[in-house]
Amino acid sequence: MAKTIQIQQTGGPEVMKLVDLPVGNPGPGEVRIKHHACGLNFIDVYQRTGLYPFPLPLAMGNEAAGVIEAVGEGVTHLKVGDRAAYAGGGPGAYCEARVMKAMSVCKLPESIAFDTAAAMMLKGMTVQYLLKRTLPQGGLHPGDHILWHAAAGGVGLIACQWAKSLGYQLIGTAGSDEKCRLAKDNGAAHVINYKSENFVERVKAITGGKGVKVVYDSVGKDTFEGSLDCLRPFGLMASFGNASGPVPPVALGQLSLKGSLYVHRPTLATHTATRESVEQMTGELFEVVASGKVVIDAPTSFSLSDAAEAHRELEARRTTGAVVLVP
Ligand SMILES: NC(=O)c1ccc[n+]([C@@H]2O[C@H](COP(=O)([O-])OP(=O)(O)OC[C@H]3O[C@@H](n4cnc5c(N)ncnc54)[C@H](OP(=O)(O)O)[C@@H]3O)[C@@H](O)[C@H]2O)c1
Repeated sequence: MAKTIQIQQTGGPEVMKLVDLPVGNPGPGEVRIKHHACGLNFIDVYQRTGLYPFPLPLAMGNEAAGVIEAVGEGVTHLKVGDRAAYAGGGPGAYCEARVMKAMSVCKLPESIAFDTAAAMMLKGMTVQYLLKRTLPQGGLHPGDHILWHAAAGGVGLIACQWAKSLGYQLIGTAGSDEKCRLAKDNGAAHVINYKSENFVERVKAITGGKGVKVVYDSVGKDTFEGSLDCLRPFGLMASFGNASGPVPPVALGQLSLKGSLYVHRPTLATHTATRESVEQMTGELFEVVASGKVVIDAPTSFSLSDAAEAHRELEARRTTGAVVLVP
């Protein structure tokens, strides 16, 4: 049996309950992993509220790190005793131990602590596919400005550092002056407090009126329109989240009026659909962390049983960087 955070119905943080669930043995292509730290991500909120629907009851969570306890038939890249970590592979990560498909699970380098891994797998792989695979026409080049919303969040702080290492001038938005300072300390070239400043005007001023080639927007409803206005002709709107609520339907004609814009709505799950892709993405992530170009600060920790409190903090915009749950 394993202590697991489960929901029987969608709703607020209070619907999450700590229950004992059987774990069992791995079948073909599966592993059993004992968790040392579980990552908290905004997607967990969408799954809890039902914005991203799943059959109920639902075991929560999408990321964790720990030790492989058992390996099913046909699994060759992991063995019992390996330190391992994963992002995705289906919900069920807020628990002491689980059985899951081995495809999403990677061997963890010795130099990366379990809580660091739980703070960086999902967020870091997301930044990898955005900065490396989600590019405007003609690509990005050193010196280019890019706009990144919620730059002091879990995904945001990794993006600030990774973008700087690639030579991009990341313009980061955040909801307080303190968060703006944090984004700047992590490599943002410019920061905008989008609660007190008009981010469209600031982006125009910073880019000499030209606008940016790409906006990475995970805030959604509140920033979508403004983000389109920050783009130069043929620019790319990469809308990858909805922390403020889902983006309403887009009138396509708007995109022509604003300069033949592109809109893309990616999700990590598509990028991690094959073992080869997971290996390539995690390989780049582990490398950029090992090189010191991206430093993962100690995450804020909550006990697994306090998952509801951790969700309240995340949704109230009171967290910076990553949050993990410790079983
Ligand atoms: N599509 C994908 O593949 C993918 C993968 C991973 C993450 N994501 C998305 O990336 C975003 C960041 O994820 P994360 O886990 O690292 O979370 P996070 O950035 O640590 O937290 C979300 C941040 O969004 C900002 N925000 C703006 N308006 C908000 C509102 N009305 N309510 C709550 N927060 C608001 C807040 O920062 P400020 O106070 O600074 O505004 C908040 O701290 C999320 O939208 C997530 O869904 C997408």
